[in-house]
Amino acid sequence: MTQSAAIAPGKWAFVTGGSDGLGLAFATDLARRGMNCLLIARNEDKLARAAETVRTTGVEVRTLSLDLGAPDAVARIEAATADLPLTLAVFNAGAEASGAQFVDQPYATWAATIQRNVLFLTEALHHFGRRLVDSVDDGGSGGGLIVVGSEAAFGGVGQSGIYTATKGFALNLGEALWAELTPRGVDVVTLLFKIADTPMLRETLARRGIPVEATGASDTAALARGTIDALGSGPIYNPDETSPDDPVTSNAARRERVLAKSELMKFFYG
Ligand SMILES: NC(=O)c1ccc[n+]([C@@H]2O[C@H](COP(=O)([O-])OP(=O)(O)OC[C@H]3O[C@@H](n4cnc5c(N)ncnc54)[C@H](OP(=O)(O)O)[C@@H]3O)[C@@H](O)[C@H]2O)c1
Repeated sequence: MTQSAAIAPGKWAFVTGGSDGLGLAFATDLARRGMNCLLIARNEDKLARAAETVRTTGVEVRTLSLDLGAPDAVARIEAATADLPLTLAVFNAGAEASGAQFVDQPYATWAATIQRNVLFLTEALHHFGRRLVDSVDDGGSGGGLIVVGSEAAFGGVGQSGIYTATKGFALNLGEALWAELTPRGVDVVTLLFKIADTPMLRETLARRGIPVEATGASDTAALARGTIDALGSGPIYNPDETSPDDPVTSNAARRERVLAKSELMKFFYG
């Protein structure tokens, strides 16, 4: 297995939602590979504790307390990384676990989820995608973008309408960017999976007295490691794929589709 050029000792990655669960697992794995990390989340105490954990690997760690739903979120991440040799961005934070039906929740709640999972994500992928392409054009060895999605992306589900819709958006954009940016030296992979043992999941299950062991939740360290290893062989990484030729869940089948449809677009648009 060849490691993506985005994973380089001494370079920097940022991880949204890096203060617990899957985000912290990403930061820990990247740090073990020698990468310095900027952890981004809202709660400062949790961020500080996570930073201490990641620092035990010997890398440099910075934190940024930020609500990704803030209108200036991308500008704040840019300011926090302007002096750093950034080669990887991990877009991890993105759960929505209210379990509410669409019309029963105030619209402002859904707007906040859309702001974080769609508008922030889109602006950040545009901004940092451009920055990584420019750095490759200037002689850098390569960059990477990791989008944490969900199998929720595969279709609408009751009590998860906005969540599944935003994850569908992220999957489409992630696959398109894989097609566009791979030839330009930036690896893109979208992680899809069913369920992971994170604090968010445990809190949600605790409301109904369900033990996490009953859910078959994946281990976050294994998900993070598999995704980082899969950078460079996207468009998706889905450890829960049904079979290698399943058109919905399989990386190989989705890659074939993205490549074929992207060729068609070249035919249309030149
Ligand atoms: N857990 C699962 O079973 C599961 C299944 C499929 C997909 N996923 C996906 O995996 C990713 C991680 O999920 P998760 O379960 O760990 O829960 P999550 O709530 O997406 O992630 C928790 C992390 O994100 C931070 N965060 C949440 N909202 C934020 C905001 N508005 N601004 C800044 N930071 C924010 C949290 O810290 P603060 O609260 O301090 O901000 C914490 O560090 C998500 O994209 C989710 O959709 C999870």
